[in-house]
Amino acid sequence: ENISLDFNRTLGFISQESIDSYKADAEKFNLALHDKTMRGNDFLGWVNLPSSISNEHIEDVEATAAKLSAKKLDILVVVGIGGSYLGAKAVIDALSNNFQQFQDTDAPHVIFAGQNISEDYLAELRVLLQGKEYGIVVISKSGTTTEPALAFRVLKKDIEDKYGKEEAVNRIIAVTDASKGALRQLATEEGYKTFVIPDDVGGRFSVLTPVGLIAIACAGFDIRALINGAKDMEAQTSPEVKFEDNIAAQYAAVRNELYKKGKKIEILVNYNPKLHYFAEWWKQLYGESEGKEGKGIYPSSVDFSSDLHSMGQYIQEGERTLFETVLSVKSVDNTVLVPKDEANLDSLNFLAGKHVDEVNKMAELGTVLAHVDGGVPNLRVEIPKVDEYYLGQMIYFFEKACGISGYMLDVNPFDQPGVEAYKKNMFALLEKPGYEQATEEIKKKLK
Ligand code: PA5
Repeated sequence: ENISLDFNRTLGFISQESIDSYKADAEKFNLALHDKTMRGNDFLGWVNLPSSISNEHIEDVEATAAKLSAKKLDILVVVGIGGSYLGAKAVIDALSNNFQQFQDTDAPHVIFAGQNISEDYLAELRVLLQGKEYGIVVISKSGTTTEPALAFRVLKKDIEDKYGKEEAVNRIIAVTDASKGALRQLATEEGYKTFVIPDDVGGRFSVLTPVGLIAIACAGFDIRALINGAKDMEAQTSPEVKFEDNIAAQYAAVRNELYKKGKKIEILVNYNPKLHYFAEWWKQLYGESEGKEGKGIYPSSVDFSSDLHSMGQYIQEGERTLFETVLSVKSVDNTVLVPKDEANLDSLNFLAGKHVDEVNKMAELGTVLAHVDGGVPNLRVEIPKVDEYYLGQMIYFFEKACGISGYMLDVNPFDQPGVEAYKKNMFALLEKPGYEQATEEIKKKLK
């Protein structure tokens, strides 16, 4: 079984012929991703990544995770932001118990830092770590990103104070560029175990590199199954697969056609709270890849049915510039049946004996029908089950579709020039050496 795509409920808004008219481009752009003949072609290392990960590499990641775990860690702190954060967070949350923080587990609880600059977050994290056994994975491809560098500076001092410099080295892993950047230099000087982020894999496409794999393995999950799922999706979306059978190419075509028809906002919908961060990962993937040159679908997300009681109103009746892509999970892992209640004061006896998931599925179907009636086209990605293998399929499916879709939009899906603007201002405001001129200018602007 595989994940599948159903776009039938977009057909009242766009025609099958208009979708089919993307066939030639979709196939051409898919091939270009493999042949590296179009824009951003020095960042296409992710395209064949799943099928090219060696067994030795997986063993190295697993052995490193096992060595850390042998220290009986309560907590693993993963320091990183953006593409060096969201992939691991998405996979770990999807696979973890909903109440993971209260579980007694052999694997450490994985928590994150360096994904914000909140002083309270760091202060409270430091207090938490004081009484715990912990280790740190610090991740930065450039090795110079302010948020993780700042958090790591604070946490490094604490871990050295707690365990001594020598033992701290055994508890820190760095994931960074092979040679460039401050983190590489620091790791070399301190003697940390390191993993390399390949040059040709950008942050938002890096979850299947050590950026994601180390933390996922440390959390106790099966990275081989994750990679296998991605590898199978790599085969199923390869340039040899024609448009009619290639769900990544179809998803790219449908969303671009909807965009052309004025549907400028895509909402990724889940009915399972474990997928909340998968949507955050997806938003970065599409937002950073497509939102440029004054173009791009705005990627957003909702958690249903929770958000049906908040954003549901807008989606049903607000401005008609939306379409939805539902992540629909076929099988749940657990059973809760609705009990019969003699008094039936809540009038729910008509549900007695049913699975709660059946109610969830009817909420999903009912919502899809209502939203389509309300003018919101609907795509549906069906996922047999939330496990490592299908998450691997989903990751590669969305990555491949993103590459094709970005080329359809005629942008470079693999750069992110726009993320520099805030950094320049922040450094000017903080009076970073080298920014004297910018500091002067920004101060004038603020007068
Ligand atoms: O996708 C991207 O390139 C960004 O989101 C980066 O991953 C993010 O800015 C973190 O960069 P780095 O890993 O260099 O610290």
